[in-house]
Amino acid sequence: MLKDRSILLGITGSVAAYKAIELIKGLRQEGASIKVIMTEASKRFITPLSIELASGNSVYNDMFDSPLSHVSLSADADLFVVAPATANIIGKYANGIADDLLSTALLAFKGTIIMAPAMNWRMYENPVFQKNLQYLVSLGIKTVGPERGSLACGEEGIGRMADIEKIMEAVRTAFSKQDLAGENILVTAGPTREYIDPIRYISNRSSGKMGYAIAKIAKRRGADVTLISGPVSIKPPEGIEVINIETAGEMHAAVMDNVSMSSIFIMAAAVADFMPSETKGSKIDKKERLSLNLVKTVDILEEAGRFKNKPFIVGFAAETGQRLDRARRKLVDKDIDMIVFNDVSKAGSGFDVDTNEVVIIDRKVDRRLPLMYKDDVAMVLFDRIKELKDNGR
Ligand SMILES: Cc1cc2nc3c(=O)[nH]c(=O)nc-3n(C[C@H](O)[C@H](O)[C@H](O)COP(=O)(O)O)c2cc1C
Repeated sequence: MLKDRSILLGITGSVAAYKAIELIKGLRQEGASIKVIMTEASKRFITPLSIELASGNSVYNDMFDSPLSHVSLSADADLFVVAPATANIIGKYANGIADDLLSTALLAFKGTIIMAPAMNWRMYENPVFQKNLQYLVSLGIKTVGPERGSLACGEEGIGRMADIEKIMEAVRTAFSKQDLAGENILVTAGPTREYIDPIRYISNRSSGKMGYAIAKIAKRRGADVTLISGPVSIKPPEGIEVINIETAGEMHAAVMDNVSMSSIFIMAAAVADFMPSETKGSKIDKKERLSLNLVKTVDILEEAGRFKNKPFIVGFAAETGQRLDRARRKLVDKDIDMIVFNDVSKAGSGFDVDTNEVVIIDRKVDRRLPLMYKDDVAMVLFDRIKELKDNGR
């Protein structure tokens, strides 16, 4: 999504300056072209040569080397990122100081600016710095991080530069349409666990990747997102509310608590269809044979479909084989707005992979999509939801 985008990156004098290499590589991998301005202090932490090699462009540093570079670099850029951003550059920008190439180019820039502050926690908590930072935020400057953790000085506290992936996501967001702003989107993801005894459970192969991709894209497009997640091993996207659950019963309770506040509800979790009729309070002894009596779990989608002021509801149907007819019937029976059908027996589709091949079924048409990354499936899904909602469902 960063193809042909031109990003101006400012690197300042923080210990985190070396991390800029990874950021430049990541941005270039997604298609962006990167020009870099380094401050004098940053050159004490990382060499301009390393940055030149990573970015594939000459590094800019001295305003007087190439007159008007402070204006032309800013005019040519679609986005300005400062990572890491020292207390000094934030203070200078907040006060309109332009005494080197980076600070001057910042003042000459008219587009979106993202800053990733990095510093010792005492500097970060200093009210003078906080005042500068808050002023920039009030002007619409986007900030990412800092995070809490062990700092370069050996102390623990807030001040570590945000993870590169978080800065990348802020960049993607800056280039993304914000057409879901104002929507409250509730997403479920992952499997549930139905306990046999305190140690053993039955579950399914869901990795949560599809639901997490949906939550991430919704957030990127401006929505407020709540994610109800079963046990998975992926990190939740930044800036969304996450409610962790284990069992179908817990997921049901969490959905019922939140669904009426949402405008769109997407049920991408693989909720267990069955659970043991009873959960033993202590570990069942090993024996030759054990029969389990399973009963149906509550149908969360169907219950949500019965709500009076219900949101736009999307269900997922993971099937083996072409069962489109059954998926369409589900749409009608459960009185929901959309079903995303995927045949999990197909290569590259369904559980634990980054791709999916789905059919989006709504009340009007079936739309068969080719094999796509889950992020792209989520993009198409929201395009269609928007289209239907804008036309009164
Ligand atoms: C070893 C060392 C590490 C530093 N790390 C940081 C830092 O992480 N954040 C920060 O704001 N300043 C840090 N400083 C101070 C800045 O380098 C200093 O304020 C400098 O003037 C910043 O200039 P610049 O903003 O033009 O790059 C550090 C200084 C030293 C000597």
